[in-house]
Amino acid sequence: MILENLKLPYIPSERPVKVLFVCLGNICRSPAAEGMMKETVKEHHASHDWEIDSAGTASYHAGDLPDSRMRTHALRRGLVLDHICRKVKPSDYEKFDLIIGMDDANISDLVDRAPSPDLEKKIVRMADFFSPNSSYDYVPDPYYEGAEGFELVLDLLADATLNLFDTVEAVRGKK
Ligand code: 4NP
Repeated sequence: MILENLKLPYIPSERPVKVLFVCLGNICRSPAAEGMMKETVKEHHASHDWEIDSAGTASYHAGDLPDSRMRTHALRRGLVLDHICRKVKPSDYEKFDLIIGMDDANISDLVDRAPSPDLEKKIVRMADFFSPNSSYDYVPDPYYEGAEGFELVLDLLADATLNLFDTVEAVRGKK
């Protein structure tokens, strides 16, 4: 689904678009978003046009693979999550065209650390890409939840990654 009213000022048309998914720990939601987005892009034969990464606002788990529960749930959907956890760094704001936070705390942390007001415009919410009939307006942290929390995250990400792909490709086509 193409989401018409989103402001995405930095989407390039002449080179691959660079997208960074961000959550708190970078072991559950954002590496799952990264893995799912890479799969979506691959299915559309567009991998050469997208650069996709993820990072966390905290560094508790730097160097770790994604949470084993998230890897298990993702694998059931055919996704192998092999991202190595890292913290968001200042150069990410220059490098990436879109910096996508999973919840409002991620967004406010990202905004606080933005090196300039212009670069702050790259920050968007993952929920901005949910289909309009979604009953959620953020991607909830599954860390202290059971299996259903991880499944919910993957369901929300499946919807958002597809709409993100369609919307960015539409913006690029118009430029
Ligand atoms: P994430 O989940 O932000 O989706 O990676 C969390 C992972 C770890 C912690 C909190 C949330 N933690 O407190 O260690």
